[in-house]
Amino acid sequence: MSDLGQLAVIIASVRKDRLGPTVATWFLDHVPPGTDVIDLATLDLPDHLAGGGDTELFTKRIERADAVVVITPEYNRGYPGALKTAIDTVVAEWQAKPIGFVSYGGISGGLRAVEQLRLVFAELHAVTVQAAVSLPHAWDRFDEQGKLREPRHPDSAAATMLGQLAWWSEALRQARATSAFAL
Ligand SMILES: Cc1cc2nc3c(=O)[nH]c(=O)nc-3n(C[C@H](O)[C@H](O)[C@H](O)COP(=O)(O)O)c2cc1C
Repeated sequence: MSDLGQLAVIIASVRKDRLGPTVATWFLDHVPPGTDVIDLATLDLPDHLAGGGDTELFTKRIERADAVVVITPEYNRGYPGALKTAIDTVVAEWQAKPIGFVSYGGISGGLRAVEQLRLVFAELHAVTVQAAVSLPHAWDRFDEQGKLREPRHPDSAAATMLGQLAWWSEALRQARATSAFAL
């Protein structure tokens, strides 16, 4: 069984009345204790990308992570602008790190946002894992207490994604320890 190492989970939605934290609460039941939960709504990441605010803190948290899961909604076939700013805030700390996705939205379940993110992370030399969790019609899937109504398939998808992420996390941890990442 592969070891995830230090996992970070990014909540990408910063919208007022967002569903993101509800999705995150369900997903965080699947991850090891000690996972670093990075809620972008709580961070000040300046979009001029010239440092300041929480830039240093966020950079350190990505540097510490061996693997990252991004929980993202889909907005107009894309992903949230706040997530792009967060991704662009950090450079070398993404390199040779595995990334998994939990996406949600309307009809597409956020899959179109994830396909775009795969291109963005490829540019940063991060490795996106093949298996992903997708929740179409996400607003209807949680009850009044925020509990996922039919968790069987999402639970199973989360386990598969985390299994792949753990394999890559271990492999890339060893690779990073053996030699510095070369561009
Ligand atoms: C501006 C905006 C654009 C959206 N565009 C899409 C879309 O293109 N595809 C889709 O499946 N859902 C779309 N949705 C639905 C959202 O994915 C859904 O409302 C989700 O809950 C948003 O995440 P959040 O509540 O955490 O912000 C859109 C929602 C908003 C607010």
